[in-house]
Amino acid sequence: MSKVLVSDPIDKAGIDILSQVATVDVKTGLKPAELQEIIGEYDALMIRSGTRVTQEIIEAGTQLKIIGRAGVGVDNVDVAAATRKGIVVVNSPEGNTIAAAEHALAMMLSLSRHIPDANASVKKGEWDRKTFVGAEVYKKTLGIVGLGKIGSHVANVAKAMGMKLLAYDPFISRERAEQIGCQLVELDLLFQQADYITLHIPKTPETANLINAKTLAKMKPNARIINCARGGIIDEAALATAVKEGTIAGAALDVFASEPLGESELRSLGKEIILTPHLGASTAEAQVNVAIDVAEQIRDVLLGLPARSA
Ligand code: NAD
Ligand code: MLT
Repeated sequence: MSKVLVSDPIDKAGIDILSQVATVDVKTGLKPAELQEIIGEYDALMIRSGTRVTQEIIEAGTQLKIIGRAGVGVDNVDVAAATRKGIVVVNSPEGNTIAAAEHALAMMLSLSRHIPDANASVKKGEWDRKTFVGAEVYKKTLGIVGLGKIGSHVANVAKAMGMKLLAYDPFISRERAEQIGCQLVELDLLFQQADYITLHIPKTPETANLINAKTLAKMKPNARIINCARGGIIDEAALATAVKEGTIAGAALDVFASEPLGESELRSLGKEIILTPHLGASTAEAQVNVAIDVAEQIRDVLLGLPARSA
């Protein structure tokens, strides 16, 4: 019987599918060396964002036929190394679209109304209504960087809240953007005009540190930025400086250059900054969707059926 290693928390719905065709070992929190030591026993590896599948892991995975990422981004997998060894890499491109979009929207509203800090204050026994005066999103301009699946859903909801929409995405047409209700603009203009900016792009060599001190300097002093896409797209040190010096009004981050987030100036900032521990896809619904989607693809490959590549 085939053997599957599940090295990040995956919904039971996915484990049940895999168990029909394979022996499934769930071993989360493995150190890279521990994973490298045991991966040679397995025909398939199923992960979320917690496991980094490096070239070394792939080289050690002598039996591996497939790596399944229960989510969208495969940036934690060395896809080139896997492909060289004939290992298929699959993902779930749509299973967590709504969850991630809703998290970005929740971050935008939480930032605007200081909900996390106001909640913490009431729970401490305070009743401070002055500190937490917020801002409305109605009639404000939202700049969406990356108008793919998540960016488009954010656009639809933001439009219903009365926001004006700008988008930057070099790979989509003006017509497509207009269909979604967005005016397609260059990145600089988006940064100059938006009151809120939300990122929905993959992490690639082109998007690493796309948002840096220079880009942040273009933002309006009342503008806020949200990153529920990938860590490393925003230069965190430059962002902390911009928030601390008040050159921008705030930021909400779900993803970080290094996860879990270690020592960071971001942690020391006040209500202008909201940090969540990579929760974009963490809804019950999305976790069932991605687990089933990827487990079915792994099952099919283990049964010798063709796979859909990420
Ligand atoms: P998608 O492929 O549907 O959309 C991405 C869009 O980004 C595309 O339209 C593409 O044209 C555009 N793009 C690519 N490079 C760009 C660039 N340099 N500048 C501007 N636009 C660019 O993907 P999606 O499903 O919308 O996901 C977007 C991102 O969100 C992914 O990176 C994914 O990893 C991340 N994500 C995070 C979470 C989370 O838990 N926080 C959950 C799901 C997805
Ligand atoms: C993704 O790219 O789908 C997300 O990072 C989801 C996850 O947390 O696994």
